[in-house]
Amino acid sequence: MKEIVTMTPDITPIVAGNWKMNGSGNSQSMVRELVEGFDTELRQKVDMAIFPPAILLERVSNWLGDATIASGAQDCHANASGAHTGDTAAEMIVDAGGSMVLVGHSERRVDHNESNKIVATKAEAAWRAGLVAFVCIGELEAERRSGNTLDVLAEQLAGSVPDGANAANTVVAYEPVWAIGTGLVPEASDVEEAHAFIRKQLVERFGNGGATMRILYGGSVKPGNAGELMAIKNVDGALVGGASLKSEDFLGICEAYRNMT
Ligand code: 13P
Repeated sequence: MKEIVTMTPDITPIVAGNWKMNGSGNSQSMVRELVEGFDTELRQKVDMAIFPPAILLERVSNWLGDATIASGAQDCHANASGAHTGDTAAEMIVDAGGSMVLVGHSERRVDHNESNKIVATKAEAAWRAGLVAFVCIGELEAERRSGNTLDVLAEQLAGSVPDGANAANTVVAYEPVWAIGTGLVPEASDVEEAHAFIRKQLVERFGNGGATMRILYGGSVKPGNAGELMAIKNVDGALVGGASLKSEDFLGICEAYRNMT
């Protein structure tokens, strides 16, 4: 890989684990191992968050106790309450001890037909409840192959990140859909280009709020590639799926930050 740089100034990176629809059985021991392994030195370099299935969130939050590891949900409904069978309101995530929520993950965009507009409404619902919204964006394989990646990112950013976003209430997660769960990772130069583009869009729209907003990379992040990925300019952490299901691997990804200045 070409350029290794230090982490973005003034931004504390965050490594976030999206458990997806996993976690029954061993989640308590996972959480205990994370709490034990996330030592003082690492905590000074990087933040950690975990996003278990909604039904586990309250237990996970309790197990985390006063450890400096945040928890959140993988989705929320736009409304605070009502006749929406199976959905979870942002306010309920707060009640369950969460402080964050993913919105617009590609699996929800596909499985539940979530449009940019719906994602933006969910981000606003997150803010209404006092949650940090992790807005997920990313191109499909066909879109990358046809050279449309940056256009797709511009459209998703414009449509899914509401006005009013700032570095405290919003994190942007760039996850190329074709890299999720496949073991495929873009070239470092492609990640750098996408993140620089996202940063530029955020700065143009939100000024200093956009300059200091965290932009995470997600898609097949593992302990073995985290050092290279996390060192890319404007990569302010990772959104991790599969490798967040083993505490050793998840901590191994955080380790990428131990020796970074
Ligand atoms: P993987 O790390 O399993 O590729 O998943 C990434 C992801 O979708 C996180 O939200």
